Amino acid sequence: MKKHGNTLIVGLTWGDEAKGKIVDLLAAEHDVVVRYNGGNNAGHTVAFGGETYKLHLVPSGLFHEHVMCIIGGGVVVDPKVLLEEIGRHEKVAPRLRERLLVSSRAHTIWPWHKQLEALSEKHQGKGKIGTTLRGIGPAYADKANRVDAIRMGEFLRPEHLKKKVERIVETKNQIFQKVFGEAGLQAGAVWAEYAAYGEQIRPMIADTTEWLLRACEKGRRILFEGAQGTLLDIDHGTYPYVTSSSASAAGAWPGTGVPARAIHEILGVVKAYTTRVGEGPFPTELEGAVGNQIREQGHEYGTTTGRPRRCGWLDTFAIRYAARLNSLDGIVITLLDVLGGLPELKICTGYEVGGKALEAFPDDPAVLEQAKPVLESLEPWEEDISGVRRFRGLPRAARAYVRRVEDVIGVPVRIISLGPDREQTIYRR
Ligand code: IMP
Repeated sequence: MKKHGNTLIVGLTWGDEAKGKIVDLLAAEHDVVVRYNGGNNAGHTVAFGGETYKLHLVPSGLFHEHVMCIIGGGVVVDPKVLLEEIGRHEKVAPRLRERLLVSSRAHTIWPWHKQLEALSEKHQGKGKIGTTLRGIGPAYADKANRVDAIRMGEFLRPEHLKKKVERIVETKNQIFQKVFGEAGLQAGAVWAEYAAYGEQIRPMIADTTEWLLRACEKGRRILFEGAQGTLLDIDHGTYPYVTSSSASAAGAWPGTGVPARAIHEILGVVKAYTTRVGEGPFPTELEGAVGNQIREQGHEYGTTTGRPRRCGWLDTFAIRYAARLNSLDGIVITLLDVLGGLPELKICTGYEVGGKALEAFPDDPAVLEQAKPVLESLEPWEEDISGVRRFRGLPRAARAYVRRVEDVIGVPVRIISLGPDREQTIYRR
């Protein structure tokens, strides 16, 4: 592959596109990997040397010893999860603590965020969002509201933070007690636990905006790692069934401080079929035997929560919208091997509502709910393609599938992934 400048990796659907593997692969050609949105709702998987590693917060470049890993200001950080993750990977990711910086501007997740989210989701009943219950939404809500928000940089001033935690717990306890009839939290116990986390994380907290701007000025190659996917973006996704951050490429600028002009290449990642976890409309969902076969062949169970993922045909109508929104240079198709052996193969090329074709991806969830997919049948293939390493080595039907997908989306397919391992990859010019 050619040497990259600054590259951005973004999911084009509802997350779980196997971005972790792609970030790990491309990290080899970059000096820095920076996460720009989300928190430990994300589950990025990297596999090499017969081992599989699951990441939620630390950027997926950690296994390359020359790479600096940055958690940008657009991320929400659960300090406990961050430390556990560093601890779990230190042996395979040498000098990780020296290569990891956490933005002083990143907001933090506390016990009240997780507990209030669980109570709120339960209270919503059928109308729930189906979140990962990691406190993501409440932490971003506090960030926007400013009053009860805590940024990573405040761990550098423990005396101030201790008082702030006491005040916030007092306010949150009012909500626990008066709205939900629950006991609430003990500020002293929360502070004792989190002060200890803060002590350990302190050396990694930095003004990463300034750090990244200087890295750009020095010509260091930066890889931007998006979490979740475009259809889960708070502004452009299938609201309200979205996450609480800017999960499209547009999130990289506010989420890191690096201007969009400094990003030279944007690659969008899609699976060869489409999946979704949690609630919300999903026009190409397959509820019968074929959907189950895809789920089993693709091991489609959540990395973060273990929930079975909803599976369906590749939705190129939604992906075309995402491709335009992200100003894509190329597409990465992952898990193409999973489609082998299916009795039939289809892609969705449009939506119809009341027998009329839609001209654009709907902005209204009620319309998306009614949308019927327009499906095109393609020739399935039987072969196990997980060992193929060249595009020409794929069965004719698999090559035709890839070509049809790039035609319909209007963006070239640059990388094809045929399994979790680094080796199971085809590069196209
Ligand atoms: P939250 O991000 O936990 O608030 O969850 C909001 C919605 O986003 C739910 O439907 C989640 O299942 C979904 N979601 C959040 N993170 C991911 C992810 O990394 N992959 C797939 N879905 C996700």
